Amino acid sequence: MFNHIMGIKYRLLRGMRDISGIEAEKISAAIAASKKIFAAFNYSEIMLPTMEEAALFARAAGETSDVVDKQMYVFKDKGDRVVALRPEGTAGAARYFAQTRAAASEAAVKLFYAGSMFRYERPQEGRYREFYQIGCEYFGNADPSCDAEVIHLADTLLETSGVAEREIIINTLGCPECRRVYAEAVKKFAEASSGELCDDCRRRIDKNPLRVLDCKVDAAKLSGFPRSADTLCPECLEHYSRVKAMLDGAGVKYTENSRLVRGLDYYTRTVFEIRSPRLGAQDAVAAGGRYDGLVYDIGGRPAPAAGFAVGVDRMIMASAAAEPKATRGIFIAVTSREMTAAASKLAAELRRAGLRTEGPVGFRSLKSQLGAADKMGLSTVIIMADEEMRDGDIIIKNMTDGTQKKSKLAGLAGQLAAETV
Ligand code: HAM
Repeated sequence: MFNHIMGIKYRLLRGMRDISGIEAEKISAAIAASKKIFAAFNYSEIMLPTMEEAALFARAAGETSDVVDKQMYVFKDKGDRVVALRPEGTAGAARYFAQTRAAASEAAVKLFYAGSMFRYERPQEGRYREFYQIGCEYFGNADPSCDAEVIHLADTLLETSGVAEREIIINTLGCPECRRVYAEAVKKFAEASSGELCDDCRRRIDKNPLRVLDCKVDAAKLSGFPRSADTLCPECLEHYSRVKAMLDGAGVKYTENSRLVRGLDYYTRTVFEIRSPRLGAQDAVAAGGRYDGLVYDIGGRPAPAAGFAVGVDRMIMASAAAEPKATRGIFIAVTSREMTAAASKLAAELRRAGLRTEGPVGFRSLKSQLGAADKMGLSTVIIMADEEMRDGDIIIKNMTDGTQKKSKLAGLAGQLAAETV
């Protein structure tokens, strides 16, 4: 009533989306397909909460990361706790691991998750305030084979989803000590040219110097920056070269880029990103790396870890896979009120056979029923007409080309299921 008088009062929040029809089907299908691949790599599903203590994300991604500093949806709940909508899945998974495995065995734990994440960013093509990620976290394995596995897995996921054009970019930031030494070297270098740098970079020099390296504005001015590989300890160098050797062995193609530092602070050693040239400015489809300090930092027993997340929205945009066909399905039309009971029985049989079935919708003119089927985009109409039904027949109308044929009612569900109308 209210809406009729006043007009529609509530609208979508900026950056939020209603995802319906084929777009919704694509997301569900991408998640379903990814589950099979995670299973093949021996990962188990975890359904993480959408909300956590805000401090967990701050501790994990880092106070100075853009995600925490600018993009978190933080609020107080009714119990006065400061909570946040999850901007990513890694912190929650690490909290789960720290909480449940503290006293347990040293066995590795391999988890995957799918769901929406929230970041208050300026909305644009490929960047939303609520978006979908599928990701995984591999806890308890410090070996380079673990880094190589997650990179290979991310690549397999994208390949299976039809992202044919993609580039894997890898880099290493070193262990916490190497990372500290490297950040110091980058800081010194950036300070020397700070007069020429953008405001963001000048702020980053003190707070988070590595982020200066992935600034798009200042890229050319920093061309002579120190490379992490030049400051790494022998163990970190060895780790990195073994990761690369394993990727080579698995036939995974990658490019090294010493500018790749990632926007989340928990990474140690290997970091990677997969980009697609089919996307615009937001070209990262998947990203991740190793984060050996995180579980300990949030209060768990020390445990090495690595993982990644795929941005499902971007993966679908970058996919060259064929668009799913318009909804296929069956509409049951009747030519008299007496026919509706038989139509209900047939509908039940078709649904039991797994066929998308609509109707009976009640007695109306045949023209109006065909119009309804057309509006729903259903491919087939079964017409139950009094005369044909006397002989045990129905009429099947193909809505795409308009042709009709008679068929026997008996055994119809099995026959249509085999034809997958
Ligand atoms: P991230 O790079 O922040 O990493 O996000 C991973 C992917 O999520 C991005 O490459 C992108 O495809 C997608 N994404 C991020 N923000 C948006 C947005 N606003 N709209 C649409 N898509 C977006 C992480 O989240 C880490 N937790 C990955 C990880 C797991 N590292 C270790 N384990």
